[in-house]
Amino acid sequence: MEGNAMPSGNTQVRLASRPMGKPTPENFEITQTSLPEPSEGQLLLKILYLSLDPYMRGRMNATKSYAKPVEIGDVMEGGTVARVVRSRHPDFAEGDVVLSHSGWQSYALSDGAGLRKLDPQAAPLSTALGILGMPGFTAYSGLLTIGRPKPGETVVVAAASGAVGSAVGQIARIKGARAVGIAGGAEKCAFVRDELGFDAVIDHRVPDFAAQLVAACPGGIDVYFENVGGHVWDAVFPLLNDFARVPVCGLIAQYNSRPGEPTGADRLPLVMRDVLSKSLNIRGFIQREFADQRPDFYRAMAGWISSGEVRYREDIVDGLENAPAAFIGLLEGRNFGKLVIRVAAEN
Ligand SMILES: NC(=O)c1ccc[n+]([C@@H]2O[C@H](COP(=O)([O-])OP(=O)(O)OC[C@H]3O[C@@H](n4cnc5c(N)ncnc54)[C@H](OP(=O)(O)O)[C@@H]3O)[C@@H](O)[C@H]2O)c1
Repeated sequence: MEGNAMPSGNTQVRLASRPMGKPTPENFEITQTSLPEPSEGQLLLKILYLSLDPYMRGRMNATKSYAKPVEIGDVMEGGTVARVVRSRHPDFAEGDVVLSHSGWQSYALSDGAGLRKLDPQAAPLSTALGILGMPGFTAYSGLLTIGRPKPGETVVVAAASGAVGSAVGQIARIKGARAVGIAGGAEKCAFVRDELGFDAVIDHRVPDFAAQLVAACPGGIDVYFENVGGHVWDAVFPLLNDFARVPVCGLIAQYNSRPGEPTGADRLPLVMRDVLSKSLNIRGFIQREFADQRPDFYRAMAGWISSGEVRYREDIVDGLENAPAAFIGLLEGRNFGKLVIRVAAEN
């Protein structure tokens, strides 16, 4: 629905069933409900952009994690950029644009809690979900607080063309380190090397991936920013130097694992041996732990984007109804850049 006319319905994407392994379109249900009416102190938000992120796969499981699961029948959760279309709240006016967590739907009510006003002149609005939002902040806080790269060190990151990984490698270079990216396929690798300026990049889908990684890291690895796990971790682990730092940010290679699925040989004793003998620092984090760094991040990242030191790529898919397929693709590496759904045109 374009323009100022108010539509009659709200399109929502709900969790229809819990996936066993890879999600399928049947795990989602697209429904129409009537448009909610804001009461006193509330706002009606029209969603412009919806962020699709790997963590949403965890929310589809019933298992307890660092956040509550989405219940069957509930609207899928997610970060959004939205326009205020009706306001009965003193702090927001119709036309304001905000960052919200409104989920997979075209309209949402809010009481204003947790909203952040965005300046549409300052940066493209979709960047509030990517390079200037949660994924960019994840890269910044995880790399600088846990990874602590020093000039001349080698920093390796996988999913290097994606929302988090692309920022990790570029920030590493700003700090004087050597950035080695790992990405899936020739096109993504060319982008990481030629557009983002990483020092080296390796395709994790080629048969001699592990040997190529050895060749790209002649002095070993000082910081490994862990985004994926799986066969990438297996290739990286033997190359970690003494005192290497490993911010464990994500393990996307195992998000679609079925409960109880065999995970292969138990390599924990080997890992623990090297944690001890190499004094490794392997440290998991969820970005919100570092929330007090957000003001510094916004300032630094805006500066790096305007100086051209950080570049970013977005993969924008039109239409909320296409969110399930796009999300399934994200877990298989079919996105190319920060995945965002354009739910409605900005004007
Ligand atoms: N800890 C936190 O607070 C936090 C916050 C945000 C994100 N994360 C994590 O950060 C990671 C990256 O997230 P993102 O939003 O930046 O996503 P993204 O990189 O934009 O997209 C996901 C990418 O993961 C790669 N991938 C998927 N399956 C894989 C597999 N089996 N093996 C190797 N690579 C695989 C694919 O890239 P290729 O085609 O290049 O392989 C895919 O494009 C995820 O693990 C996510 O959960 C953590």
